Amino acid sequence: MDQPMDYVELARAESPRGELVLRERRQEGATPVVELRANGVFVMDNAEFTSEEALAAAALDLVAEPREVLVGGLGLGFTAHRVLADLRVERCTVVEIEEALVGWMRDGTVPHGPSVLADARARVVVADVAAALAEAGEATYDLVLLDVDNGPGYLVHDANAALYRTPFLTDVRRVLRPGGAVVVWSMDEADDLQRALAEVFTEVDAVPHPVRLQDRDEDYWLLVGTVDA
Ligand SMILES: C[S@@+](CC[C@H](N)C(=O)[O-])C[C@H]1O[C@@H](n2cnc3c(N)ncnc32)[C@H](O)[C@@H]1O
Repeated sequence: MDQPMDYVELARAESPRGELVLRERRQEGATPVVELRANGVFVMDNAEFTSEEALAAAALDLVAEPREVLVGGLGLGFTAHRVLADLRVERCTVVEIEEALVGWMRDGTVPHGPSVLADARARVVVADVAAALAEAGEATYDLVLLDVDNGPGYLVHDANAALYRTPFLTDVRRVLRPGGAVVVWSMDEADDLQRALAEVFTEVDAVPHPVRLQDRDEDYWLLVGTVDA
């Protein structure tokens, strides 16, 4: 029989979007898992992060010289960590809307957080990624990686719906350099998002990423848009 699960709260904060909780899932005989939740909805944990790393790896494979990379959504830092593992990257700008989460990553409340953010090439900006991109100059980035929500069909925050639509994607296109690319993490194939990407980018691709979630197999999706060189 499965052992019962215990939950221990590590930190809690309120923001204009509601409640953010960092907690540990503990089960006898298993390694404790750190989990981030927003308004009671699961956001991220450190048990299954292969798709967050794959998001970075897929993007880094698309360009020869990924010097300037923007990551939308710090989460528990796995995407940023994979970006920073690539020595071609000169700067990784991570845009995160929840200031408290950045604090928990910096002060070790998330145990692996300080080692991710200690990299001198990492820069964390506390902002809505839409605002950060609107302020960025034309052709600033070689890559933009977006993992701010669960995809257009499974939003944690309704306000993020705009991040999967043409006007925002046009802004992403504006800040990308020739030959650059955007990769968006999504819980499903998100046909509408693929169509929106196709309105803005030269080529669009949808790549499934298989994951094992506790007792079932699923595919998450990496949606790619590329800019002509
Ligand atoms: C699924 S997590 C990202 C997981 C991350 N890729 C990782 O490797 O752990 C989504 C993150 O995006 C942040 N976020 C949500 N909406 C945002 C927005 N509009 N702008 C910037 N960050 C946002 C959330 O607070 C959360 O930290």
